[in-house]
Amino acid sequence: MWMALATTIFTTMLAVASLAASTVTFVFGDSLTEVGNNNYLSYSLAKSNYPWYGVDYAGGRATGRFTNGRTIGDIISKKLGIPSPPPYLSLAQNDDALLKGVNYASGGAGILNDTGLYFIQRMSFDDQIQKFNKTKEAIKAKIGAEAAAKLCSEAIYFIGIGSNDYVNNYLQPFLADSQQYTYDEFVELLIGTLEGQLKVSNHY
Ligand SMILES: *[C@@H]1O[C@H](CO)[C@@H](O)[C@H](O)[C@H]1NC(C)=O
Ligand SMILES: *[C@@H]1O[C@H](CO)[C@@H](O)[C@H](O)[C@H]1NC(C)=O
Repeated sequence: MWMALATTIFTTMLAVASLAASTVTFVFGDSLTEVGNNNYLSYSLAKSNYPWYGVDYAGGRATGRFTNGRTIGDIISKKLGIPSPPPYLSLAQNDDALLKGVNYASGGAGILNDTGLYFIQRMSFDDQIQKFNKTKEAIKAKIGAEAAAKLCSEAIYFIGIGSNDYVNNYLQPFLADSQQYTYDEFVELLIGTLEGQLKVSNHY
């Protein structure tokens, strides 16, 4: 049973609000959707800026994507006819590009804070949500609270997270969580935490 629930968690969720009207996407997640944030984290061991990555991507060079080609986020953006947004950490705090969508995904990240801790640096889902809050504040400062609220409510949100909570946490016998929780308890912990995170981010 826990496998089925786990699959549900790391199945990518796509929330689409007024698809046609909107060209703004906010992407959250892990290495499956990262487009280069970890390149900006000096001490992160979860990096993919090596020559063998990106060989099938435009330009043929590594971008920080954990793939030889495009991420699922890139592919979905293309299908929607919109550009795949840049990594959050590549943008200035008040960058105009924030108005067009941002990618917060970070390789090694999970729902839980301590997931992927041996990568030293990565942006956990909580971190990504905080960065989104900062983005929203910056957008408000640029176009006003009302327009910012409209932009955010019409945006497309893409969240793909949860696999690292198993691969780089629960399934590692030397980490505390595998000792502390049964399978079912761990699934409950992930679902409960994710629910809270989605509620919090909804209020920004
Ligand atoms: C992560 O740590 C912070 C600070 O201790 C805490 O407020 C937050 O609830 C934790 N988040 C999760 C998902 O455990
Ligand atoms: C969101 O960002 C604003 C501005 O930086 C800050 O005042 C507020 O406390 C943040 N909210 C949370 C829940 O972090």
